[in-house]
Amino acid sequence: MLKVLVIGSGGREHAIAWKLRKSRWVSRVICAPGNAGTGRMAENIPVKDSDLKGIVELARAKEMDLVVVGPEAPLAQGLVDMLEREGIGVFGPTREASKLESSKVFSKRFMVRNRIPTAKAEAFDELKEVRKYIRDIGGPMVIKVDGLAAGKGAFPCETETEAYKALDRISTGEFGTSAGKVLVEEYLRGEEASILAFSDGRTILPMESAQDHKRAFDNDSGPNTGGMGAYSPAPVVTDEISSRVFDEVLLPTVKGMSKLGTPYKGLLYAGLMITDQGPKVIEFNCRFGDPEAQAVIPRLATDFVRPLKACCDGELDRVTLRWSRSSSVCVVMASQGYPGKYDKGHIISGTERAERMENVAVFHSGTALNGNGELVTNGGRVLGVTGMAPTVPEAIRLTYQAVRKIDFKGAFYRKDIGQRALDHLASF
Ligand code: AMP
Ligand code: GLY
Repeated sequence: MLKVLVIGSGGREHAIAWKLRKSRWVSRVICAPGNAGTGRMAENIPVKDSDLKGIVELARAKEMDLVVVGPEAPLAQGLVDMLEREGIGVFGPTREASKLESSKVFSKRFMVRNRIPTAKAEAFDELKEVRKYIRDIGGPMVIKVDGLAAGKGAFPCETETEAYKALDRISTGEFGTSAGKVLVEEYLRGEEASILAFSDGRTILPMESAQDHKRAFDNDSGPNTGGMGAYSPAPVVTDEISSRVFDEVLLPTVKGMSKLGTPYKGLLYAGLMITDQGPKVIEFNCRFGDPEAQAVIPRLATDFVRPLKACCDGELDRVTLRWSRSSSVCVVMASQGYPGKYDKGHIISGTERAERMENVAVFHSGTALNGNGELVTNGGRVLGVTGMAPTVPEAIRLTYQAVRKIDFKGAFYRKDIGQRALDHLASF
């Protein structure tokens, strides 16, 4: 039996811990630091995900067999390297390998070198040069900050004026120290999809597809967020697209990383635009997506710890993934103001009523318990409610039924999660 430590405190980590609790090979799940939701079904220990030494200490003291790192920041800071030096089993890429996410410039160069289809891009160190470049190309473009920006560092701009505005925001330093490095990209048209794949450095096992909803408001309007909802599978990822993603994206990525001497072990997330010419990579992430994890992981029929452990042991070729045929939909309930400023500490009601519904799971993201032991809001994205049903329309109905049972002051959520999948089904 395995003891597993899950690092992080979001909805993704709640989904990971929830699934691990269902594993027949797992005897204990600890979350560091976890949230109010993980505290109810696993053990929380208050070590922050930025306290790398604290995590190594904790894993050693509790004799954990496997550490699963949820968020990107500790990966980019080298948590995996530290745990491996101590001989502790860990699921996640090393600091070098996680550059695929933590540096957009590295990632873009890597894709170009390995002929992985992606948007054309130029990198700049000086904001002055960016201004000149914007003037030269004029038309639609996407401006991106290098480095980690919690999904909020990309600005799709239809016009030159919008591009200047985006640049002005970046130059305020709002996006941290990496704001000096800026990427200007070709604006890709098509439909987005996420493919999450396990890799042990040699073998790749893709999970079923998902689609995120990045914009804050209905009909893909408003600012980009970390993700307002997801569903799985994504009909835009046909069998043909899926095999092209494997051959043209996943395989050359894992091979290319090995060639660099930084084999990729962990979860490789390809954020894709499905264009007229086929799949193109928008970005790589080096961990499960949030909220994609809350939509995809519940559909996994294979014991979750199998692929996680096999990635650590270099035995992924021995694993096959089986999937529920049901569709899943995850709706994120957020705090008024997100992705900008928002209040915390509002009492949340109704989660138990929603959880009692069959085939519904309520994953906590930004929640906490107040002094009276009441569940309160503690972040921008507060809850992710997932429903699973045989068809997409049923999954949508079930999920929104559950969402409507939950309430907190300033709660907002998108009403159109899964709509794209319906549009696809209607066009068949
Ligand atoms: P990123 O920070 O790279 O994940 O980008 C966030 C979001 O911005 C993506 O999910 C897309 O919706 C959009 N985006 C990023 N790059 C492009 C691009 N080259 N063309 C069109 N949309 C993009
Ligand atoms: N949902 C997008 C991400 O996890 O980066």
